[in-house]
Amino acid sequence: MKAMQFKAYGDPSKLVSVDLSPPIPKGREIRLNVRATAINPIDWKLLSGALRWVMPLKFPQIPCFDFAGTIDAMGPQASHFHIGQQVFGMLPIRHLGAAAESLVVDENFAAAIPVECAVHPMAALPLAGMTALQALKDRGQIKAGERVLIIGGAGGVGHFGIQIARRLGATVTSIGSTKNLDLMRSLGATEVLDYTQPDFTVGERRFDLILDAHGQRPFCDWEHALAPEGRYLSLLPSLPLLISAFRLQITSKRRIRMVMVKPKRSDLEWLAAGMADGDLKVYIENEYPLERLAEAFAESQKGHTRGKILITVS
Ligand SMILES: NC(=O)c1ccc[n+]([C@@H]2O[C@H](COP(=O)([O-])OP(=O)(O)OC[C@H]3O[C@@H](n4cnc5c(N)ncnc54)[C@H](OP(=O)(O)O)[C@@H]3O)[C@@H](O)[C@H]2O)c1
Repeated sequence: MKAMQFKAYGDPSKLVSVDLSPPIPKGREIRLNVRATAINPIDWKLLSGALRWVMPLKFPQIPCFDFAGTIDAMGPQASHFHIGQQVFGMLPIRHLGAAAESLVVDENFAAAIPVECAVHPMAALPLAGMTALQALKDRGQIKAGERVLIIGGAGGVGHFGIQIARRLGATVTSIGSTKNLDLMRSLGATEVLDYTQPDFTVGERRFDLILDAHGQRPFCDWEHALAPEGRYLSLLPSLPLLISAFRLQITSKRRIRMVMVKPKRSDLEWLAAGMADGDLKVYIENEYPLERLAEAFAESQKGHTRGKILITVS
């Protein structure tokens, strides 16, 4: 099978194409003939070595977590799916390796692709979609009628966040750059704010939930926008944020909650149901073939992805 591989920490130009034997599924694993994967910023952050103190990698390493494909072999204890079934899912954070023609994964980290859905775009859904879902539903305890602010609403996590918050009955305000205002509105944001305008501010607005899918500005820039019992959801934990979380714990009813996505079949099924009934859409900005993965990483590194970047494998 063909795969893209890093031999050591480095930038995307260090990716090489290799030919390997397909993996053998063990226990509850299923093996997939991979049709597509997708880019998430954690892919290139991990491979650059920026996270090596918290998540060290072993090399050689095949990048990427998201996958969609067809099952072509199953381990002796795998029983949820059958050979030939089309599934999508996410490899667990410590076991990346989806940028390949074949992969093995525990069957609990995959879900069936509904017949109504095309296979390739489903690869754009798992990591970013589950992050938004687990943030809003599990960590944020979102309730119908609440006011939600999505920061970075046009990116991978943010564009799912707008749609999921709407699907769960919230009213959404979303922040992005000028070129993405129409996209964010079309996904369900009632109000959009342009951070590139010199007079940009959230003003007197107060939110029950803030999902920060950009994470580059300090919490104090958003604190005033939290309602008295509001929750701020962070995808990028940091020491200053942990200190602010501790301060809020003893001085107010506002809360900061950290989010760390985990693959979960029930969440994949929730997202798949949304795709099947047309409530949830994946916006795919660009597609690259597997051998041009380095270009896709370089595009993602610019930090202005609209929706998702898809990698077509077969
Ligand atoms: N903890 C976890 O489990 C977890 C999971 C997934 C992702 N993450 C992290 O969350 C972050 C977002 O991930 P992603 O996949 O959504 O990234 P992405 O697809 O690259 O999207 C980033 C978005 O940020 C927007 N943006 C850039 N500058 C901005 C600014 N000043 N104000 C507001 N928005 C701005 C961009 O929109 P414009 O083009 O409009 O600027 C872009 O759409 C990444 O750092 C990622 O590593 C963490």
